[in-house]
Amino acid sequence: MILPIVAYGAQILRKVAQEIPSDHPDLNTLIDDMWETMYASNGVGLAAPQINKNIRIFVMDSSQIFDGLEEDELGKYPDEPGIKKIFINAHITELNGEEWSYNEGCLSIPKIREDILRPEEVVIEYYDEAFVQHTEIFNGITARIIQHEYDHIEGKLFIDYLKPLKKKLLQRKLNDINKGKIKVDYKMVFPK
Ligand code: NI
Repeated sequence: MILPIVAYGAQILRKVAQEIPSDHPDLNTLIDDMWETMYASNGVGLAAPQINKNIRIFVMDSSQIFDGLEEDELGKYPDEPGIKKIFINAHITELNGEEWSYNEGCLSIPKIREDILRPEEVVIEYYDEAFVQHTEIFNGITARIIQHEYDHIEGKLFIDYLKPLKKKLLQRKLNDINKGKIKVDYKMVFPK
């Protein structure tokens, strides 16, 4: 089932999400719905707070980025051809490497894209859908998306990294999103 995506301004996007037990009710349905919702809105990642659930789950699929790259951009990123993965009860334990800039967007903040600096490598502990624990290292676009989605379960948004002046310039657009004064081609719920 495709679920509506919570828009910027909603309190749930600012909460630190809670871990879930392995017997979380209807977990498989929730996971299926998250994949369906992410693909239906052409997202490369989706975190549970964005579908109004205050729990530590996110899904991501960096292969979609690589599928969309021009031929001259191939070979540029170390994580080609990308991965598709779900992260449950995740905790980032290390961020390593040089910060690099990439133009990010967010399904909860439609039609705003900004260049954001993030470290190139992430070490993350998480459980998969069978509740098997993993510790893995990711880099490239995959690490970028993981950090963005991980921020969602920590109550953070990519616009938090913008300089105050830049954020000020965006304020009117952000207010419009908050009030639902925006046209989006996927289902959203607005706080006001
Ligand atoms: Ni996002």
